[in-house]
Amino acid sequence: MADCILVLDAGTTSTRAMVFAGDGTMEAVAQAELTQHYPRPGWVEHDAGEIWDKTLKCAREVIGQDAPRIAAIGITNQRETVVAWDRNSGEPLARAIVWQDRRTADFCATMKADGHEVMVQKRTGLLLDPYFSGTKMRWMLDYDAAVQAAAQNGSLAFGTIESWLVYKLSGGAHISDASNASRSLLLSLDGAQFDSDLCELFGVPPAALPEVVDTHGRLADCDPQWLGAAVPICGLAGDQQSATIGQGCLSFGETKATYGTGAFVLTNKGREIPHSDNRLLGTVLYQENGERTYAIEGACFVAGSLIQYLRDQLNLIGSAAETEELARSISDSGEVVIVPALAGLGAPHWLPDARGVISGLSFASGRAQIARAALEAMAHQTHDLASAFAADGAPWTHLRIDGGMSANDWMAQDLADILEIEVERPDFIETTALGAAILAAVGCGLHADLETAALTMRSETTTFSPKMDGDVRTSRLARYSKALSAA
Ligand code: G3P
Repeated sequence: MADCILVLDAGTTSTRAMVFAGDGTMEAVAQAELTQHYPRPGWVEHDAGEIWDKTLKCAREVIGQDAPRIAAIGITNQRETVVAWDRNSGEPLARAIVWQDRRTADFCATMKADGHEVMVQKRTGLLLDPYFSGTKMRWMLDYDAAVQAAAQNGSLAFGTIESWLVYKLSGGAHISDASNASRSLLLSLDGAQFDSDLCELFGVPPAALPEVVDTHGRLADCDPQWLGAAVPICGLAGDQQSATIGQGCLSFGETKATYGTGAFVLTNKGREIPHSDNRLLGTVLYQENGERTYAIEGACFVAGSLIQYLRDQLNLIGSAAETEELARSISDSGEVVIVPALAGLGAPHWLPDARGVISGLSFASGRAQIARAALEAMAHQTHDLASAFAADGAPWTHLRIDGGMSANDWMAQDLADILEIEVERPDFIETTALGAAILAAVGCGLHADLETAALTMRSETTTFSPKMDGDVRTSRLARYSKALSAA
């Protein structure tokens, strides 16, 4: 009997496949790391062929001989990363430009100087920053000969990672779900398809773009050659929207924060098209039968990647988990403060040229102080977002956290302390994958609606309550704010 969901979670640092039972239990998982290419400072690229090969391999590994048990596939993905491929060969034309890539900073600055940001924000909910996919597409068209040639002969296809995986899995369906499409600068938040005026403004040919579809429903069918059966693809969402659904933030005002490669906070705004006066983003949370539910988002580019940097570049720690022990081994960071602007600063500052800062170093500053400052930076960045959300009239009453870093109890407690609200963490922290399982389960009819699916499939939670002394909190935030001005 087909009663399980296969989730493909194509993230920034790794791609994974998981099998979920209808009650939300994860039955199997396979994971493969992705090669990160850094051809120049500020540039980040992926090999789309590698993403496809490794995702397929993981999918085959988790389902084994169980293909008949898979009712549907749900896909969730790193957002904004652009793949250009040839429709005839089905092969990538260039390396994918990753969301963290800053190469279009000058182009964005020119667009801003030309006065386009107000209109762009009003229509798309986004700002003129190299983060989003539209300017990455434009860059490929301007500088990559293979992409230019394909555009001229009509064989160019652009897509984000979910679009690429669906194209490969289905053998030719060229679609993007509304949550991913809403990160492109080319979709009006209230427009069903990519917007021709915006395409013209950014110089992207509409013919190269996918069709925008719902986040759940029967969206495409998998070619049986890949997994041994024509399994329907019934859920598609960007990883942050997926995590929001996996956290059950299905009612107006409910908020989650995911600490993965970056840190992303989304608040459900219901049917209301969100607008921020405080440099937050408006985005599509999900789309059902053409009707959209929206979210307001704060995106910080560096979270877990800071810990990775301490481990792999600075060799300060042997494993990410070690940071918890180091943080607990001292009573404070000895005034060491880290501003994790290693890929510029995202919300609410939006400074693509900002760079990381470690301040307050003294001869007493060792590994423990730096590791603790790195963890503290998560609460500081989140506090900046909390202030922007509150100023936008969307204050958080409590916060649901998830993502790899949220397993760190010290960090979870620090978040509660600095934000002065209760922080709730599900026992099963893979909410991004769970969200895609929920969408696919609803999309294939295994559950009646998102609320029922979330209620059935979500795990128990643990709550962290604020207990920090007010003066300590105030001086921490003051030190962070001073360090921020040097970023
Ligand atoms: O917008 C970028 C985001 O989708 C990346 O997510 O999980 O790699 O931090 P993650």
